[in-house]
Amino acid sequence: MNWHFILTAGHIIGTVLGVGGATFAEIFYLKSARDGIIDQTESGFLKTTYFIMRLGMIILLFSGFGYLIWYRFTGQEALMYNPRFWAKMTVVLTIVINALLLQAKKISLNAGSAVSLTSWYGAMILGSWRGLEAGYLQILIFYTASVIAVYFILKTIKNKIKTK
Ligand code: HEM
Repeated sequence: MNWHFILTAGHIIGTVLGVGGATFAEIFYLKSARDGIIDQTESGFLKTTYFIMRLGMIILLFSGFGYLIWYRFTGQEALMYNPRFWAKMTVVLTIVINALLLQAKKISLNAGSAVSLTSWYGAMILGSWRGLEAGYLQILIFYTASVIAVYFILKTIKNKIKTK
Protein backbone atom coordinates (compact mmCIF):
# COMPACT_ATOMS: atom_id res chain seq x y z
CA MET A 1 0.00 0.00 0.00
CA ASN A 2 1.72 3.19 -1.14
CA TRP A 3 1.10 6.88 -0.38
CA HIS A 4 -0.73 7.52 -3.66
CA PHE A 5 -3.21 4.75 -2.81
CA ILE A 6 -3.83 6.14 0.71
CA LEU A 7 -4.28 9.71 -0.63
CA THR A 8 -6.62 8.58 -3.41
CA ALA A 9 -8.68 6.49 -0.98
CA GLY A 10 -8.97 9.51 1.34
CA HIS A 11 -9.79 11.82 -1.55
CA ILE A 12 -12.54 9.57 -2.87
CA ILE A 13 -14.08 9.14 0.63
CA GLY A 14 -14.06 12.94 0.98
CA THR A 15 -15.69 13.30 -2.44
CA VAL A 16 -18.42 10.77 -1.59
CA LEU A 17 -19.24 12.54 1.71
CA GLY A 18 -19.16 16.02 0.14
CA VAL A 19 -20.98 15.36 -3.11
CA GLY A 20 -23.39 12.91 -1.43
CA GLY A 21 -24.07 15.45 1.33
CA ALA A 22 -24.67 18.29 -1.15
CA THR A 23 -27.15 16.05 -3.02
CA PHE A 24 -29.11 15.07 0.11
CA ALA A 25 -29.09 18.64 1.43
CA GLU A 26 -30.82 19.66 -1.80
CA ILE A 27 -33.31 16.75 -1.59
CA PHE A 28 -34.23 17.64 2.03
CA TYR A 29 -34.50 21.32 1.05
CA LEU A 30 -36.77 20.49 -1.92
CA LYS A 31 -38.96 18.30 0.32
CA SER A 32 -39.28 21.19 2.80
CA ALA A 33 -40.39 23.43 -0.09
CA ARG A 34 -43.73 21.54 -0.12
CA ASP A 35 -45.07 23.53 2.85
CA GLY A 36 -42.46 26.27 2.56
CA ILE A 37 -41.36 25.63 6.16
CA ILE A 38 -38.18 23.89 7.37
CA ASP A 39 -39.59 22.13 10.47
CA GLN A 40 -37.52 20.70 13.34
CA THR A 41 -37.05 17.27 11.76
CA GLU A 42 -36.00 18.73 8.41
CA SER A 43 -33.67 21.19 10.13
CA GLY A 44 -32.12 18.26 12.06
CA PHE A 45 -31.53 16.35 8.79
CA LEU A 46 -29.99 19.46 7.19
CA LYS A 47 -27.70 20.09 10.19
CA THR A 48 -26.43 16.47 10.09
CA THR A 49 -25.93 16.68 6.32
CA TYR A 50 -23.97 19.95 6.58
CA PHE A 51 -21.76 18.29 9.25
CA ILE A 52 -21.03 15.37 6.87
CA MET A 53 -20.22 17.83 4.04
CA ARG A 54 -17.77 19.70 6.29
CA LEU A 55 -16.16 16.39 7.29
CA GLY A 56 -15.83 15.53 3.57
CA MET A 57 -14.18 18.90 2.86
CA ILE A 58 -11.70 18.45 5.74
CA ILE A 59 -10.72 14.98 4.43
CA LEU A 60 -10.38 16.44 0.88
CA LEU A 61 -8.19 19.30 2.10
CA PHE A 62 -5.86 16.95 3.99
CA SER A 63 -5.65 14.37 1.17
CA GLY A 64 -5.44 17.16 -1.42
CA PHE A 65 -2.48 18.82 0.26
CA GLY A 66 -1.09 15.34 0.82
CA TYR A 67 -1.11 14.90 -2.98
CA LEU A 68 0.79 18.18 -3.40
CA ILE A 69 3.45 17.12 -0.86
CA TRP A 70 3.67 13.73 -2.59
CA TYR A 71 4.14 15.50 -5.96
CA ARG A 72 6.92 17.58 -4.35
CA PHE A 73 8.79 14.51 -3.03
CA THR A 74 8.33 12.53 -6.25
CA GLY A 75 9.32 15.39 -8.58
CA GLN A 76 5.88 15.62 -10.18
CA GLU A 77 5.23 19.31 -9.40
CA ALA A 78 4.49 19.88 -13.10
CA LEU A 79 1.17 18.06 -12.60
CA MET A 80 -0.03 21.09 -10.66
CA TYR A 81 0.64 23.54 -13.49
CA ASN A 82 -2.51 22.74 -15.39
CA PRO A 83 -5.61 24.96 -15.72
CA ARG A 84 -7.92 22.08 -14.69
CA PHE A 85 -6.23 21.89 -11.26
CA TRP A 86 -6.40 25.68 -10.67
CA ALA A 87 -10.01 25.85 -11.90
CA LYS A 88 -10.82 23.10 -9.38
CA MET A 89 -9.04 25.03 -6.60
CA THR A 90 -11.16 28.09 -7.52
CA VAL A 91 -14.33 25.97 -7.29
CA VAL A 92 -13.19 24.53 -3.92
CA LEU A 93 -12.62 28.08 -2.61
CA THR A 94 -16.13 29.01 -3.83
CA ILE A 95 -17.58 26.04 -1.87
CA VAL A 96 -15.90 27.25 1.34
CA ILE A 97 -16.89 30.95 0.90
CA ASN A 98 -20.46 29.95 -0.06
CA ALA A 99 -20.76 27.75 3.06
CA LEU A 100 -19.59 30.65 5.27
CA LEU A 101 -22.05 33.07 3.59
CA LEU A 102 -24.91 30.56 4.04
CA GLN A 103 -24.00 30.09 7.72
CA ALA A 104 -23.94 33.89 8.21
CA LYS A 105 -27.27 34.11 6.29
CA LYS A 106 -25.61 36.55 3.88
CA ILE A 107 -26.87 34.63 0.83
CA SER A 108 -30.36 33.20 0.13
CA LEU A 109 -30.83 29.44 0.55
CA ASN A 110 -31.99 29.29 -3.09
CA ALA A 111 -28.78 30.85 -4.42
CA GLY A 112 -26.49 29.20 -1.86
CA SER A 113 -27.80 25.69 -2.48
CA ALA A 114 -27.41 26.15 -6.28
CA VAL A 115 -23.78 27.27 -5.83
CA SER A 116 -23.08 24.41 -3.38
CA LEU A 117 -24.62 21.64 -5.52
CA THR A 118 -22.99 22.76 -8.79
CA SER A 119 -19.61 23.36 -7.14
CA TRP A 120 -19.37 19.97 -5.42
CA TYR A 121 -20.24 18.12 -8.67
CA GLY A 122 -17.97 20.50 -10.60
CA ALA A 123 -14.97 19.79 -8.35
CA MET A 124 -15.59 16.04 -8.62
CA ILE A 125 -15.79 16.19 -12.43
CA LEU A 126 -12.70 18.45 -12.68
CA GLY A 127 -10.77 16.14 -10.33
CA SER A 128 -11.56 13.00 -12.35
CA TRP A 129 -11.44 14.39 -15.92
CA ARG A 130 -7.70 13.89 -16.61
CA GLY A 131 -7.96 14.42 -20.40
CA LEU A 132 -9.81 17.76 -20.22
CA GLU A 133 -8.20 20.14 -22.74
CA ALA A 134 -9.72 23.50 -21.72
CA GLY A 135 -8.27 26.78 -20.45
CA TYR A 136 -8.81 28.17 -16.93
CA LEU A 137 -11.22 30.90 -18.11
CA GLN A 138 -13.16 28.51 -20.38
CA ILE A 139 -13.73 26.15 -17.44
CA LEU A 140 -14.84 28.99 -15.14
CA ILE A 141 -17.22 30.49 -17.74
CA PHE A 142 -18.82 27.06 -18.19
CA TYR A 143 -18.94 26.60 -14.38
CA THR A 144 -20.62 30.01 -13.86
CA ALA A 145 -23.19 29.25 -16.57
CA SER A 146 -23.87 25.89 -14.87
CA VAL A 147 -24.48 27.57 -11.49
CA ILE A 148 -27.02 29.96 -13.09
CA ALA A 149 -28.73 27.09 -14.97
CA VAL A 150 -28.94 24.95 -11.79
CA TYR A 151 -30.35 27.96 -9.87
CA PHE A 152 -33.27 28.32 -12.31
CA ILE A 153 -33.84 24.54 -12.59
CA LEU A 154 -34.07 24.20 -8.78
CA LYS A 155 -36.35 27.27 -8.58
CA THR A 156 -38.69 25.74 -11.20
CA ILE A 157 -38.76 22.41 -9.31
CA LYS A 158 -39.50 24.21 -6.00
CA ASN A 159 -42.36 26.20 -7.58
CA LYS A 160 -43.78 22.98 -9.05
CA ILE A 161 -43.54 21.22 -5.66
CA LYS A 162 -45.20 24.18 -3.89
CA THR A 163 -48.24 24.27 -6.21
CA LYS A 164 -48.88 20.52 -5.87
C1 HEM B 1 -14.52 19.75 -3.26
C2 HEM B 1 -13.32 19.35 -3.11
C3 HEM B 1 -12.64 18.32 -3.99
C4 HEM B 1 -13.18 17.33 -4.76
C5 HEM B 1 -14.65 16.97 -4.95
C6 HEM B 1 -12.05 16.63 -5.39
C7 HEM B 1 -12.19 15.54 -6.25
C8 HEM B 1 -11.13 14.89 -6.84
C9 HEM B 1 -11.24 13.67 -7.60
C10 HEM B 1 -12.54 12.91 -7.87
C11 HEM B 1 -9.99 13.32 -8.03
C12 HEM B 1 -9.58 12.09 -8.88
C13 HEM B 1 -9.10 11.05 -7.89
C14 HEM B 1 -8.53 9.85 -8.63
O1 HEM B 1 -9.32 9.07 -9.13
O2 HEM B 1 -7.32 9.74 -8.69
C15 HEM B 1 -9.10 14.34 -7.54
C16 HEM B 1 -7.76 14.36 -7.81
C17 HEM B 1 -6.92 15.29 -7.26
N1 HEM B 1 -7.23 16.27 -6.34
FE1 HEM B 1 -9.04 16.74 -5.65
N2 HEM B 1 -10.86 17.20 -4.98
C18 HEM B 1 -11.19 18.24 -4.13
C19 HEM B 1 -10.34 19.06 -3.47
C20 HEM B 1 -8.98 19.06 -3.66
C21 HEM B 1 -8.06 19.95 -2.98
C22 HEM B 1 -8.48 21.01 -1.95
C23 HEM B 1 -6.81 19.65 -3.46
C24 HEM B 1 -5.47 20.27 -3.11
C25 HEM B 1 -5.23 21.02 -2.10
C26 HEM B 1 -6.96 18.58 -4.43
C27 HEM B 1 -5.93 18.01 -5.14
C28 HEM B 1 -6.07 16.97 -6.04
C29 HEM B 1 -4.97 16.40 -6.80
C30 HEM B 1 -3.53 16.87 -6.77
C31 HEM B 1 -5.51 15.36 -7.59
C32 HEM B 1 -4.76 14.48 -8.61
C33 HEM B 1 -4.26 13.30 -7.93
C34 HEM B 1 -3.40 12.38 -8.80
O3 HEM B 1 -2.45 12.87 -9.33
O4 HEM B 1 -3.79 11.23 -8.91
N3 HEM B 1 -8.29 18.24 -4.53
N4 HEM B 1 -9.81 15.28 -6.82
